[in-house]
Amino acid sequence: MKSYHITTFGCQMNEHDSERIKGMLESIGYIEASSRDKAGLIIFNTCSVRESADSKLMGHLGDAKRLKREDSSKIVGVGGCWSQSMKNDVFDRFPFVDVAFGPGQIDGLADFLATDSIETRGYFEFKGFPADLPAKRKLQFQAWLQISQGCNSVCSYCIVPSTRGRECSRSVDEIRDEVESLASDGVRQVTLLGQNVNSYGRDIPAGARVDFAGLLAVIDGIDGIDRVRFTSPHPKDMHKKVVEAVAGLSSVCEHIHLPIQSGSSDILKAMKRTYDRRRFMDRVAMIREIVPDCALSTDIIVGFPGETEEDFKQTMDVVDEVGFDSAYTFIYSPRRGTEASRLNNQVPFEVKRERMKRLVDLVQRRAAECSQRFVGRKMEVLVEGPSRTDKSKLRGRIRHNKTVNFEGEASPGDLAQVEIRGATSTTLTGIKVASPALEPVSQ
Ligand code: 5AD
Ligand code: SF4
Repeated sequence: MKSYHITTFGCQMNEHDSERIKGMLESIGYIEASSRDKAGLIIFNTCSVRESADSKLMGHLGDAKRLKREDSSKIVGVGGCWSQSMKNDVFDRFPFVDVAFGPGQIDGLADFLATDSIETRGYFEFKGFPADLPAKRKLQFQAWLQISQGCNSVCSYCIVPSTRGRECSRSVDEIRDEVESLASDGVRQVTLLGQNVNSYGRDIPAGARVDFAGLLAVIDGIDGIDRVRFTSPHPKDMHKKVVEAVAGLSSVCEHIHLPIQSGSSDILKAMKRTYDRRRFMDRVAMIREIVPDCALSTDIIVGFPGETEEDFKQTMDVVDEVGFDSAYTFIYSPRRGTEASRLNNQVPFEVKRERMKRLVDLVQRRAAECSQRFVGRKMEVLVEGPSRTDKSKLRGRIRHNKTVNFEGEASPGDLAQVEIRGATSTTLTGIKVASPALEPVSQ
């Protein structure tokens, strides 16, 4: 029996690619091995967004090298963004790698395996969306859906435009077909994926163009889909129409990820983010006006070259003022080929680390305060399974994307009504109550 093992790094797009790689491999007779050493085919789906991702990968590759030395029949494959950024150099630097492919180039991997090739091969050209690959989903009722590929922004710190190329939107018809088939397969929640989801459609010819708000409406109209999420949007494209779609379309969840990166207008300019602090705050105000209870999350980079204590304080101010429900915080790391990596005013690591600590404390305090607004409310929870910390409880998510651990009976994939009894910065607790439709009607 042919067996495989995949290790995935990076973002949801990579998670999704890995689900598609698994689906493809199982359709050609491979089975998933429980660990790397038991697998004939060892795959790494890589990321290069930060230096930490690279160094983690090096350790794993070392392990694969050892396994291949012990058993030369093993095949080692490296896909994703790091692989794309290295291209054929992968084979020079890591001669034990048999096949390398860029993000989404799953067909290349399939071709390589089908030809029983003994020569190393690299597949780095974007050849359209691997639309008809069946994904092996982690949860049957939740699916990722890729709506675009690539990114046309030029953020000066980011390696992604060079690894994933120019933006290319998938056609609405293809997306609709995929969602319909997911819905008929029992999927209730789809998460739309793109490097910049809300600029969807810009590259579609004018006559056929559907914009992101229009796409949300199309998906909302598909029977069986109860929840639609999307990631990652860019604040510059968070137009009123999109926010109105979040407010008006019943399946689109009340959660918007709005990556600010920095609260200092000077740093935002150096980052080439195309908005300043005031425009970002205007977007937040617009969201809060149209969707008053919307959850907001963000990404923040600490220690971008030239970031002064004053710049950092501006980030702290914004975090305090907005009150994000959650924030992913990153220490800036220079990436090869990016504009920011060539700047000579890099911030010393100790300074970055100290700022990071202050930021994380504030983020957690504000997130904990914001979570209190759910306490006492009955919230719709999409049940995922048993709680990770206490198997007698269940775990699920509210539409605002917060995890809830709760008491009561329900099956994975159910929508349960849960009364929220407690809240921390990351998690809610509660107890299941009767669904509104089942509650007796009072006279
Ligand atoms: N250094 C640190 N963080 C980065 N990000 C992207 N590039 C870098 C970098 N060079 C962060 C951004 C982005 C998230 C996915 O990763 O915050 O939104
Ligand atoms: Fe990593 Fe960015 Fe590639 Fe995702 S798109 S895998 S975060 S480099």
